Amino acid sequence: MNFFKGTKILITAGPTQEKIDDVRFISNHSSGKMGFAIAEKAFEYGAEVILVSGPVNLKCSSGINRINVVCADDMYNATMEYFGKTDIFIMSAAVADYKPKNPVKGKIKKETAGDSPIIELEKTKDILFEIGKIKNDRQFLVGFALESENLIENAIAKLQRKNCDLIIANKSGGDRSGFGGDYNTISIISKNLDITDYLPMSKSDCAEIILKQIMS
Ligand code: CTP
Repeated sequence: MNFFKGTKILITAGPTQEKIDDVRFISNHSSGKMGFAIAEKAFEYGAEVILVSGPVNLKCSSGINRINVVCADDMYNATMEYFGKTDIFIMSAAVADYKPKNPVKGKIKKETAGDSPIIELEKTKDILFEIGKIKNDRQFLVGFALESENLIENAIAKLQRKNCDLIIANKSGGDRSGFGGDYNTISIISKNLDITDYLPMSKSDCAEIILKQIMS
């Protein structure tokens, strides 16, 4: 099935890690499985795939151009580097929203940090929002929205604010949704606000549905 022959797809996956000091970081529980499943399906469908991945414990097909990054700034830079030549951009990474403002060289010691140290944070760049500002009419943008409540309302707000063509809403928590597992429970929302809810299914099946929806 060569649905995507000649199509250039850029996908981000996994978490980012934001340094507190040389041995500690802020991150999240993203496994990267959803983004990797999309990358594999897109590759199977004939696309030229670039996969920008945060630190994950996953392998991908050798035909996929994988770029490993660690922090949100690196993911932003890699994404900006390749976005210009991209037809479809799928932002499935769980980018850390905040990073320590002054990461410390070496290891923070208890004697100097005291009993209740405060780590000052600053916002990371919102990659999808920045891409949404520069995309042209031929480029198709897909975002994800991970929500613990008001799933659809919040996802629609993100779709509009970040100028996406499609957003995949998924609930955090629950045993067949969100981070870590092999299953996901998604709703797909298009720009003209058509909403389709799906039953729980494997991340590989989710990937197929998402790519077919992009094609339609
Ligand atoms: N995203 C991004 N850069 C960030 C944060 C999020 O590109 N610094 C992208 C995610 O990859 C996802 C979309 O924005 O495609 C929505 O991410 P999500 O974490 O659900 O929402 P946020 O915009 O971070 O808002 P909040 O955490 O307040 O729900």
